[in-house]
Amino acid sequence: MAHGTNVWDACIAIDGGIMAKPKANKLAVSKDNWETPDSFFKYWDDIYKFDGDCAATMENKKTHSYLSNAFEEPWYRMGWCNPPFSEKDKFIDKAIEETECGNKTLMLLPASTGALWFKKAIENCSLVVFVVGRLRFKGAPSSADFDTCLFLFEKKWPGRTPHVEWLELEPKYRK
Ligand SMILES: C[S@@+](CC[C@H](N)C(=O)[O-])C[C@H]1O[C@@H](n2cnc3c(N)ncnc32)[C@H](O)[C@@H]1O
Repeated sequence: MAHGTNVWDACIAIDGGIMAKPKANKLAVSKDNWETPDSFFKYWDDIYKFDGDCAATMENKKTHSYLSNAFEEPWYRMGWCNPPFSEKDKFIDKAIEETECGNKTLMLLPASTGALWFKKAIENCSLVVFVVGRLRFKGAPSSADFDTCLFLFEKKWPGRTPHVEWLELEPKYRK
């Protein structure tokens, strides 16, 4: 695991050009329920000691406490969130809103660097960690056909650029 050894302080400039309307993702419904691999979650839980899972059911919660109606409830002091990807925009907005009362969220998302929601996430996070290697989510037929990253949302001063890191997956995290 190379987390922390390949760290760059990067100033990220994202061009706000004209964007094509995204195509509908045929796999969006099933991907909404893809679970984080347990060993990958544990890696982050050891660092952040999550108080709760912000997007879960009783069956797939990663922590004892969890939310199944995240938009109607306050989040956690330190929350974990692997949101349904079809609702990532709303979850990002909520995570940003939660920073106002001091709550922090680590959110796992596709590394879709050209998407508007990605720009918003970058502008509002304090840390982004790009995952090197493709995660194999629980419930997915194989390793994901997209890259992933994690955003740390926490209260920060306007204009602060996020810290950027890379995490190289070992084979065990891809299963
Ligand atoms: C990608 S799965 C995450 C599973 C697991 N908690 C994890 O972290 O890997 C997203 C989960 O969010 C749940 N979900 C959908 N809408 C939600 C909402 N409004 N609030 C909280 N959870 C929601 C879905 O039922 C699904 O179990």
